[in-house]
Amino acid sequence: MAKRVREPEPESVEPDLIVAAAGDRLQSPLAVVLGSPRQAAELASSLDAHDEATCFQLDIHQAERVREELKTLGSAAKVETLPDLWDIAGDFPTAVYPAQRGGERSLKIDMIEQTFHVLRPRGRLIVLSDYPDDQFFPGQLKKIYRRVHTPDAGEGRVMWCQRDGDRPRRRHEMTFHARIGDNPSLRFLSRPGVFSYGRFDEGARALMEVVYEHQIARPGTRVLDVGCGCGTNGIFAGHWSGPTGRVTFVDSNVRALAMTEHNAKLNGLSNYKLLASSTLDRLDIRGFDVVLANPPYYAHHAIAELFIRRSRPLLTAGGRLYLVTKQPDALGPMLADVFGRAEVAERRGYVVLWGTVARGND
Ligand SMILES: C[S@@+](CC[C@H](N)C(=O)[O-])C[C@H]1O[C@@H](n2cnc3c(N)ncnc32)[C@H](O)[C@@H]1O
Repeated sequence: MAKRVREPEPESVEPDLIVAAAGDRLQSPLAVVLGSPRQAAELASSLDAHDEATCFQLDIHQAERVREELKTLGSAAKVETLPDLWDIAGDFPTAVYPAQRGGERSLKIDMIEQTFHVLRPRGRLIVLSDYPDDQFFPGQLKKIYRRVHTPDAGEGRVMWCQRDGDRPRRRHEMTFHARIGDNPSLRFLSRPGVFSYGRFDEGARALMEVVYEHQIARPGTRVLDVGCGCGTNGIFAGHWSGPTGRVTFVDSNVRALAMTEHNAKLNGLSNYKLLASSTLDRLDIRGFDVVLANPPYYAHHAIAELFIRRSRPLLTAGGRLYLVTKQPDALGPMLADVFGRAEVAERRGYVVLWGTVARGND
């Protein structure tokens, strides 16, 4: 998978810069679109009527962090986590989008499009870029809003536009096909903000090739796909497990779960469950035969470690966790520590690690 490096939290100058650049164009109730937890909370608290502000997030872990920041600031702003911004409750005169440096380009385009539909007529979108004289946003904003303003006080980082008229909702999405071994090819829909957009990830392919070769997902197998993204891995395993098998998909990103549900139905999976969780601690089902994981690299392996440690008690005796990584030196010992032993296969430039729960040891 592509490396995602978490940026350091930006300095907290954004509300001041936005207020200086946008002035009386900032009106309540305010919608704050994504942004780092601190940025989002500071922006939501920047107007007097901050209890009317709503922060939108795609990921429940990020949303929780925004709530914590709001609490610290003594703000009563709301936080909503939904697959689509345009489904948020409210009718906003102003939306502020603090776009993150190095964030996914397609998600930025999607957010510009979706913000249009949550603004009331003549409502304003204010974009804060991390780059002075940003070259990306003005062109993209013009496609949706026609005119873009870059006030001098914004240091070339603040842009605003106004909603005029109406336009149809346009969903940004891409379909891809993937197959493992000589199995039939499956079709998946993907959307910005969900891993992996527009393609089957090579790491995921390496993982599923090893799982298929081991014939570990057989009819009746109970599978947990942790950090499921758009659902590819669990859906492959669900096919091999057949109607007597069962797949549970978990992700902290609610758009990922919406995509997974769509793809599970698209590919005829009947026995599956979806759970939004960032801690794996609300799983009411246990007794999995296989756990599949392609963890993100950010947060210094903390998420990989969470997946490894939390999945162990969810497995049956003889059950296995399969995890794909490019960092086996860090994750191999962790897996061996939890399972007693880590086994390894190299594939497509990735390392697939697995640990087995010893029988009679549960
Ligand atoms: C590298 S992607 C893998 C997606 C998919 N399994 C694949 O192989 O293409 C990692 C996934 O883990 C999810 N994730 C990150 N932190 C998480 C957490 N604490 N709990 C649950 N899911 C998490 C992300 O939202 C993302 O969908």
